[in-house]
Amino acid sequence: MIDLPRHASPCGSITPIEGGVNIPFAIARVYYLYDIPGGAVRGGHAHVELEQVLAAVLGAFDIVVDDGSNKKVIRLDRAYRGLFIPRGIWREMVNFSSGAVCVVLASTPYRKDDYLRDYETFSRMKVADG
Ligand code: TYD
Repeated sequence: MIDLPRHASPCGSITPIEGGVNIPFAIARVYYLYDIPGGAVRGGHAHVELEQVLAAVLGAFDIVVDDGSNKKVIRLDRAYRGLFIPRGIWREMVNFSSGAVCVVLASTPYRKDDYLRDYETFSRMKVADG
């Protein structure tokens, strides 16, 4: 979990994020998830090379992270708190609150072939990696 800078004033707050400064990689891509219907499950994959930081800039959601051996559920519910997800971690995002917005900072451009979408393949790779 990364505590991001937070500049609060009576007129509102600002959280700036600089690649390589507040998060451990240069930012190549930013995207956000929004209009998420109740009960939706996002993610359900791992990445070979991509690293990401996720934050709930509005509302809240849970991320289930899985390294092939252990699973952990992490609640993101503060705009100034980011979760760093290194490569090779299976993730699912669930329990989105109404109106939640999830921003994702990514270390690489979008590459379809960087996704591992089959859990069995992911597990086998983790076992092979030791
Ligand atoms: P996907 O990564 O499968 O979403 P999630 O894991 O959150 O459920 O992406 C959904 C769609 O969006 C898919 O058709 C690919 C497209 N997409 C891009 O074109 N560029 C991107 O940077 C991302 C993240 C997704």
